[in-house]
Amino acid sequence: MKARYKWMAGATLITFLAGFSLFQNDWQQGSPRALPAYSDADASASEPISPLPLTLNLDPRKVALGDRLFHEKRLSGDATVACASCHNLKTGGVDRLARSRGIGGQLGGINAPTVFNSGFNYRQFWNARARTLEDQIDGPLQHSGEMGGTWPKALDTLALDTHFRTEFAALYRDGITVANVKDAIATFERSLSTPNSRFDLFLRGNTAALSDFELSGYRLFKRIGCTSCHQGVNVGGNMVQKLGIIENYFEGRTDLTDADQGRFSITHLEEDRYVFRVPSLRNVAITPPYLHDASAQTLEKAIQIMARYQLGIDLGSNDVARISAFLSTLTGEYKGGQLQ
Ligand code: HEC
Ligand code: HEC
Repeated sequence: MKARYKWMAGATLITFLAGFSLFQNDWQQGSPRALPAYSDADASASEPISPLPLTLNLDPRKVALGDRLFHEKRLSGDATVACASCHNLKTGGVDRLARSRGIGGQLGGINAPTVFNSGFNYRQFWNARARTLEDQIDGPLQHSGEMGGTWPKALDTLALDTHFRTEFAALYRDGITVANVKDAIATFERSLSTPNSRFDLFLRGNTAALSDFELSGYRLFKRIGCTSCHQGVNVGGNMVQKLGIIENYFEGRTDLTDADQGRFSITHLEEDRYVFRVPSLRNVAITPPYLHDASAQTLEKAIQIMARYQLGIDLGSNDVARISAFLSTLTGEYKGGQLQ
């Protein structure tokens, strides 16, 4: 187990060093420099990021039921908090707070990630402890500081509501059960996809969808190695990595919490300390503050931190602005309207 991990760590490092030396070459030759011009062809198959699918094939009745459950405050212990309280769909699927407020105004221990596109993440939570969206739901519903609910009470509440009783009966043979509530909420979450961002239009062949400045930001993002971690359909969400791969991000901090330990808090393996699931960067421009501990208030700051601690690069302000401009093109649409 240990040996295998070390091998993996070694492989990661080699990938990194390879990426880094490529970058250095670029830099020495004076960047930005001529890269092959983008054509429709190279804007698709060869890119490390792919566009979100335009169709999802979800049962619309389950999506509608899950939508109601997601906004249902009565699922919480004192009927004051719904999933949507912390994952507001009108504000990017987050609360834009450093830490969320749960029932009784309790302050949570970690920044709330967005629910938009969560269906495209290979695991859920910052430390990747939930394998599926269905498994994830037990967390907030029963957490004493979030919704403070219990499943028996939640099921009783739903069973007393004629609307929910009828809808569950129509969709599920066994009516209102924990598994069916999870199925409906998770189906709704899978519908929270945000296609048609300008970047996706670009990937689909509309090369005019990005300005030169944004495109130069994307090229820089690839060239310095951001895409070794933020890649795939969700521009992240498909692996775990250490925060502070090049330089210890937590050096000298005396206020570290369990949440800062990353996967270590689950596995208790030293090599999992500070290891987090790489977050998706879709819609990232509208979901401040950033990082699991909200230690970056702005996107620019998050980009600087990433470049320094993950890649060993001190980016100048113009390069930060380029990457920030590119990341802003990842803001997509929900129900046909641009997210904001
Ligand atoms: C009190 C605020 C709060 C409430 C209420 C809440 N969440 Fe969350 N949610 C969070 C926080 C904070 C996290 C990150 C926790 C972690 O990673 O340890 C999170 C994480 C998630 C994630 C994982 C996203 C990712 O990228 O890993 C999903 C999905 C999610 N919540 C859905 C829900 C659903 C569904 C409900 C209702 C059943 C809900 N949340 C209720 C604050 C909340
Ligand atoms: C070695 C893998 C790795 C590389 C390389 C990397 N990141 Fe990250 N990125 C992560 C991880 C892991 C996190 C989550 C860290 C945390 O909050 O604990 C993250 C978080 C972020 C966030 C904050 C997202 C949010 O919702 O809070 C942004 C923005 C970001 N990265 C951008 C970049 C950019 C830009 C680059 C290139 C300069 C980059 N990343 C390179 C792994 C990486």
